[in-house]
Amino acid sequence: MGYLGYRKADQVLISSLRRLEYRGYDSWGIATAGSDGIGVYKQVGSISEVEAFDLGDSSLGIGHTRWATHGAPSEINAHPHLDCNRQWAVVHNGIIENFLSLREQLRDEGHRFVSETDTEVIAHLMEKNGGDLEDALAASLKELKGSYAIVVMGAGERKLVGARYKSPLILGVGDGEYFLASDATAILEYTNRAVYLEDGDFVVVTDEGYRIKNQGRNVEREVELIPWDPADAEKEGYDHFMLKEIHETPRVIEDTLLGHISETVDLDLSLAVGTSEIVFLACGTSFHAALLGRYIIEEVADLPVRVECASEFNYRKSPLNRTLVIAITQSGETADTLQALRKAKSFGARALAITNVLGSSVTRLADEVIYTRAGPEIGVAATKTFTAQLIVIYLIAAKLSRFSRTEMERFLLELRLIPEKIQRVLDNADKIQAISKILAGYENMMYIGRKIGYPTALEGALKMKEISYIHAEGYPAGELKHGPFALLGERTPVVASVVRDETYDIMLNNIKEVRARGSPVIAIADEGDEEVEKYVDFVIKTPEVESIFTPLTHTVALQLLAYYTAKERGCEIDRPKNLAKSVTVE
Ligand code: G6P
Repeated sequence: MGYLGYRKADQVLISSLRRLEYRGYDSWGIATAGSDGIGVYKQVGSISEVEAFDLGDSSLGIGHTRWATHGAPSEINAHPHLDCNRQWAVVHNGIIENFLSLREQLRDEGHRFVSETDTEVIAHLMEKNGGDLEDALAASLKELKGSYAIVVMGAGERKLVGARYKSPLILGVGDGEYFLASDATAILEYTNRAVYLEDGDFVVVTDEGYRIKNQGRNVEREVELIPWDPADAEKEGYDHFMLKEIHETPRVIEDTLLGHISETVDLDLSLAVGTSEIVFLACGTSFHAALLGRYIIEEVADLPVRVECASEFNYRKSPLNRTLVIAITQSGETADTLQALRKAKSFGARALAITNVLGSSVTRLADEVIYTRAGPEIGVAATKTFTAQLIVIYLIAAKLSRFSRTEMERFLLELRLIPEKIQRVLDNADKIQAISKILAGYENMMYIGRKIGYPTALEGALKMKEISYIHAEGYPAGELKHGPFALLGERTPVVASVVRDETYDIMLNNIKEVRARGSPVIAIADEGDEEVEKYVDFVIKTPEVESIFTPLTHTVALQLLAYYTAKERGCEIDRPKNLAKSVTVE
């Protein structure tokens, strides 16, 4: 974050950093520049536990909330970092890959380093290069390798300078005030007007305005309106953002559908013309959406689909001729997904992105973008954005299908009924919470499913492990006998996503096998399914939908199951330990 305007900078920075905390939260710090030089305040832990402090009346400052990559979380390693003479202060996201050699060189020249971070080299490089703030940073950037969003200020100049390369940075444009931030939620409280900076952009902000350069040339960038309401980034009475965001699912689905269907599917998929296969690239929860996409598109559109884990794609050699690549990333900033997409494009693939964030990096890399309309998601564990991604995937499948008019109408009608059915899952939260109270006492769990029930199980397990810290594994039900059976027993409950399609009978058999080995079983199943309850300990019933849509209803039930289990265990639900929402490093 950077601020230059008329308000008390320390207060603006604290309140903005609170909204950015979901990007990193092991330590934080701010610095302001006034007539008596640069004042700094740093603290380990969450910014919500801020102690009283005052950095004076300065209306110019920078701040950062950290997720440690180089050096443990500590006050010394927290940003901002300063040079020896406290002339420059720097905050930085990303990684300076050549920092070790730069640090050695600078040390030899007499610079004293206090932290273990890569960021500190930027302050010392600026000190070495000298000149005014702009010159010092511009010269230093030439020596850096890696990725960065950097904001700097100096002791003697009323100016902020920012630079972006492969890490997001936006410029908020208010009335007589400016903000530099790594995402829009940080500035929404003050302005909804923003410039989405591009790679290589170098922005200089003063009281008179701002100018942007790229490769030494002045460039014009459009000021865009951020399409989010500030209230979307508030808890609005819920205990946690995660619960609020799960409850927003019906509305999010309606909004996403509204944007993309009328009588038929309004998506421009001309990129798909002539494609021989679809390849999905994604990470984390988005990867699970992609795995579901494989079943959905193959079933509905009869087109072969591959799913590649983005962080592994770089090591793949497989050609992508005549291929449509679809990158799924809610933030649009996940470094592994961006890198995989760059590689896919270098192979000649056509690239479509599904994202929730306007102006995010993926929107610049892709040839076409389809937006989910989920609003900002603050809870680190993705929930509403996942269901919104699935909605887009159903629409892509329908668009690529050879549906007759009646089949299309039926498919879209089913989709339109989903929000109301998900509302009924939410209304059943008490029952889910009661089961969670029992699950909270276990340390290991298994999630199983077949066909579309399988990625649903993976996502259920991911939600459980990331927020409750219970070791939870997702498995194809058919694979249990090839190893995981050895882990079953009364201390390992199994959650089964039971779908009434061709997998139904064999799933019931698998459940019986699991029970025979002593594991308690919780099934997620259709309301109309009266058979399954004979074989399990608990059933969470979800409204009946056509089998292909069950991942939507089942996932919301599994999200609630994880949420209430984590709550029962007293976990930090919105900010699980060691995780960050937006992972902008590879
Ligand atoms: C992080 C988040 C996950 C998310 C993943 C991919 O790990 O904690 O919730 O699924 O990144 O994020 P993306 O923004 O690319 O969907």
